[in-house]
Amino acid sequence: MKTVDFSLHGKTAVVTGASRGIGKAVALTLAEYGARVILASRKMEGLEAVARQIADDGGEALPIPCHMGKLEDIERLFLAVEERCGRLDILVNNAGANPYFGPIMDAEESAWDKTNDVNLKGPFFASRLAAKLMMQSGGGSIVNVASINGLHPAPLQGIYSITKAALIMMTKAFALELAPSGIRVNAVIPGLVETRFSGAMFQNKDIYNYIIDRVPMKRHGQPEEIAGAVLYLLSGAASFATGACIVCDGGMTM
Ligand SMILES: NC(=O)c1ccc[n+]([C@@H]2O[C@H](COP(=O)([O-])OP(=O)(O)OC[C@H]3O[C@@H](n4cnc5c(N)ncnc54)[C@H](OP(=O)(O)O)[C@@H]3O)[C@@H](O)[C@H]2O)c1
Repeated sequence: MKTVDFSLHGKTAVVTGASRGIGKAVALTLAEYGARVILASRKMEGLEAVARQIADDGGEALPIPCHMGKLEDIERLFLAVEERCGRLDILVNNAGANPYFGPIMDAEESAWDKTNDVNLKGPFFASRLAAKLMMQSGGGSIVNVASINGLHPAPLQGIYSITKAALIMMTKAFALELAPSGIRVNAVIPGLVETRFSGAMFQNKDIYNYIIDRVPMKRHGQPEEIAGAVLYLLSGAASFATGACIVCDGGMTM
């Protein structure tokens, strides 16, 4: 027996936003460590490509399209998990949206609604539905992917920053309520990571340099560098951690 156990063999996991970026890296890592992974995002094409990659590496994955801002989609996702897998041990709330870049004072109601729907309403209802399934098998583990913008608001990303701060509090509120049911709830808080989502930061050299100037490690991160922290929090290695938030940002917010 290992003294520290990162294995996820026999576990069933849902990863949202699993078709690319951080979610894809998380899905590949969970499969590599033995989990059967349900891949969720809006578009089936990207999910199928990740599922094929996992299968080619000898793992097991099931792609299910789901818009994380739509409650009916989320309910359908967890019904499918129950019917097709019969259990759930892990949820990674990774899908996120940041549709509006600009001053809070000019933001439309639609920007508020979309950001809140995907970044908060989705993880809230997904966590509740997941927890119901986890309780049937005696426990489980949830990780939310927040952002350093939830610790310090980023310029022109006010609404997004508000939702990520609330996601950090959601992590702690669920951790408190679900601990007696054997369900741990934690968060990973990434800094700048190279993905399609953060593409605008990379295209605008002024913004990119502004950020990297404030990063002690003087670089951005890669999705795999976030996946390691997610694996740790989900695995038995973190069996005494709940309500915890791991910041992976090159030291930017320390
Ligand atoms: N990249 C960064 O610098 C950074 C920093 C801090 C935090 N984060 C957080 O990390 C998470 C992942 O972002 P990323 O950078 O990996 O982005 P990404 O590479 O653009 O991937 C986003 C993923 O989310 C899915 N998605 C988007 N909207 C969705 C919706 N409404 N319902 C379901 N799935 C949806 C996308 O697939 P579909 O298009 O198929 O839906 C895709 O799989 C987000 O929560 C983001 O806030 C990122």
